Amino acid sequence: MKKTLDGINLLYPTPTTIVGAKVEGRHNFITIAHIGIVNHAKPFLISLSMGKPHYTNAGIKENKAFSVNIPSEDMVVATDYVGLVSGKKKDKSDVFEIFYGQLESAPMISECPINMECTLYDVYDTPTHDLFIGEIVETYAEESVLVDGRVDLSRVKPLLFDMSSVQYWSIGQTVARCWNVGKKMKQK
Ligand SMILES: Cc1cc2nc3c(=O)[nH]c(=O)nc-3n(C[C@H](O)[C@H](O)[C@H](O)COP(=O)(O)O)c2cc1C
Repeated sequence: MKKTLDGINLLYPTPTTIVGAKVEGRHNFITIAHIGIVNHAKPFLISLSMGKPHYTNAGIKENKAFSVNIPSEDMVVATDYVGLVSGKKKDKSDVFEIFYGQLESAPMISECPINMECTLYDVYDTPTHDLFIGEIVETYAEESVLVDGRVDLSRVKPLLFDMSSVQYWSIGQTVARCWNVGKKMKQK
């Protein structure tokens, strides 16, 4: 027996990210979990759904650049903090150690094991949110999370976001290999 839930979005978990941008000439960081993969081939495009009142939005629109950083479980307090306070009221520029890649206005977070540097590809206007589409120009990974040149999620330890429980979750065990386990049914 199914119950209806008034058409709410239940597309969780999503990885919790910290988006970095320059706003009014200052570094600002915002926690964003409503993210998506838009084009999984060159140009690699990703999306961020960001409420219109946020301080960061104007900086992304002005500079046409931002970073998407993936924090590990041990960064949960700072990750939550930059999602609790606004740059409108509090300077968040010194919360993290910053590095830059190719883009002047996409500050990245050294403590995060994964960083993606993006130019603004497009903005889709929804009634309450700016849907920013970013083109990834470079991706950075801490050597310690790589195994044979590929990212090992068990080393990244991302914070999974769930709106139902309003909790950060950690990843569990692998279940089966993708594009592979289903072959068992093909053979029947
Ligand atoms: C775990 C978590 C996830 C969040 N995800 C989003 C999101 O996907 N979109 C959004 O607009 N705000 C999201 N927020 C809220 C913003 O991060 C928060 O309002 C932030 O303080 C805005 O910062 P700013 O005004 O400096 O830009 C999230 C907050 C938390 C704690």
